[in-house]
Amino acid sequence: MTNTPTISNFDMLSSKLDLEGKVVVDVGCGAGQLVRFLRRQGASPIGVECGEVMMRQALDADPDHTDSYLDGVGQDLPVDDEAADIVVFSYSLHHVPIGEMFNALREAHRVLKPGGTLYVVEPLPEGAGFESVKLIDDETVVRGHAQDALGKAADLGFSQTLQTTYRCEESYPDAETWEEIIVGIDPTRAERMAQHREESVRLFYAHATERDGKFVFVQPVDLKIFTKN
Ligand SMILES: C[S@@+](CC[C@H](N)C(=O)[O-])C[C@H]1O[C@@H](n2cnc3c(N)ncnc32)[C@H](O)[C@@H]1O
Repeated sequence: MTNTPTISNFDMLSSKLDLEGKVVVDVGCGAGQLVRFLRRQGASPIGVECGEVMMRQALDADPDHTDSYLDGVGQDLPVDDEAADIVVFSYSLHHVPIGEMFNALREAHRVLKPGGTLYVVEPLPEGAGFESVKLIDDETVVRGHAQDALGKAADLGFSQTLQTTYRCEESYPDAETWEEIIVGIDPTRAERMAQHREESVRLFYAHATERDGKFVFVQPVDLKIFTKN
């Protein structure tokens, strides 16, 4: 992995897919950074999000496009059949309940047009970012289940056209901001974060690399692209 190139998730996405004019569903869109990037690339993005905190951040950051965001979950997408050219799961498939991960891929298949593209980026259970969060939430098992579900995508009528790994960087101004994001993504982490705050902050600074006044984590990720048959 150390020789793997470092590239941002946005640059990787735009290097792999033609986004201009495409209807793109971003499942588990979080604070909506990718939705706004997709719009800048000429796409028509729809961000689907079930987290109250994340949805509020997305709407606050994009007040002129609140209709770009829909309340919903991956396993029951609030999107019509064959309405999308592209469905993206960016770091979100492993947040779907384990028993629903395969159903979330089934939903992606339903909402995609024939020949449409499923684009799934999943963080690998390794690297500085993973090690820092592990005390609060060890995602090894759920990330493994997400890969298992992807391994069965052919059963739903998907053909895999690409699998690759790369490294991307995540940067934070300080541990407090990192904590807010970690808990905002999954509010069930709040109690454990409160219990282990001191050690958690220590791990953050131990694993991050300081650069230009920011704290940077390198995260190895797996990318899989599929076509709907
Ligand atoms: C790690 S964040 C990723 C956010 C964003 N996609 C990104 O790449 O930065 C995971 C997101 O998945 C969302 N999520 C949780 N359960 C979900 C579900 N059942 N279906 C879809 N998304 C879900 C969370 O609310 C959270 O915003």
